[in-house]
Amino acid sequence: MTQADFDFLRSLLHLRSGLSLSLEKRYLVESRLGILCRRRGISGLDALVRRLRLDNDRELEAAVVEAMTTNETLFFRDRMPFDMFREVILPEKLLANAAKRSLRIWCAAVSSGQEAYSLAMILDEMAPRLAGWRIEIIGTDISAEIIDRARVGLYSQFEVQRGLPIQLLLKYFRQEGDKWRLTERIRDMVELKTHNLLEPNEHLGQFDVIFCRNVLIYFDVPTKARVMAALAQRLTQDGAFVLGAAETVIGITTTIVPDKQHRGLYRDSRSSRGQAPNLGFAFDRPPRSLVESGSHI
Ligand SMILES: C[S@@+](CC[C@H](N)C(=O)[O-])C[C@H]1O[C@@H](n2cnc3c(N)ncnc32)[C@H](O)[C@@H]1O
Repeated sequence: MTQADFDFLRSLLHLRSGLSLSLEKRYLVESRLGILCRRRGISGLDALVRRLRLDNDRELEAAVVEAMTTNETLFFRDRMPFDMFREVILPEKLLANAAKRSLRIWCAAVSSGQEAYSLAMILDEMAPRLAGWRIEIIGTDISAEIIDRARVGLYSQFEVQRGLPIQLLLKYFRQEGDKWRLTERIRDMVELKTHNLLEPNEHLGQFDVIFCRNVLIYFDVPTKARVMAALAQRLTQDGAFVLGAAETVIGITTTIVPDKQHRGLYRDSRSSRGQAPNLGFAFDRPPRSLVESGSHI
């Protein structure tokens, strides 16, 4: 692949999905898009780039974006956010929303569904306390292919062995050959759809809880700030915002701030539960060094 073709693909991916590829990731582009070319009978990366440049083919662009996504996920990933959901966020929301008896949760980069289904299992375990409540869990991802997989709810032995307690496996999954199918009851609790975090999100409505984990790590600082600001718009005033273990708002945005009491939990800056932002610079003017370092996959 020529440098010009690599630069073209980097800009396309950044524009369409936010992905920020450092120069050393050339091998990754070559291997992932090489597979795409073989699948589609395209003779090679130069032919792929030629088609993208000349044909303005949005379907092919979307396939390139999909091929470059990293969909790694697991049930109850990192455990702590799910313990915090059960022990901190839910009790708080059950109290705050007691009058309207409704709760809306958004998993904003849900991949093959494990994150949203983990939350659904927690809620199902608490079903008696939630009787009469309207609970919505929306799972979205840029990749239509991974959303289709999430809808099917069929997981390999390896996938159910990672993070899922055995009693939840036995209660909520049925064995189908060498795979495990999540029961319809839990699948029905989650509404899955495609959504690009760079695109307008008003149509999704307001959420009491937003999980946006392990996707911002692939974006550069201005894109992280832009996405966080867009997500903050969708959060109710005292809503809870959860990031991945390696992610932070510090040095990126002032629209979302750490919770005063709970490490790993974030709030909209208007919330009385959040810390006052004192980050030294506004999210629209991050230090140059941060902008240039980008992020890595
Ligand atoms: C590593 S997975 C994280 C899954 C899950 N949140 C977790 O923490 O286990 C990242 C997901 O983000 C999705 N993604 C990447 N760019 C996106 C974008 N611009 N909008 C929405 N989803 C995106 C990818 O398709 C992928 O499924």
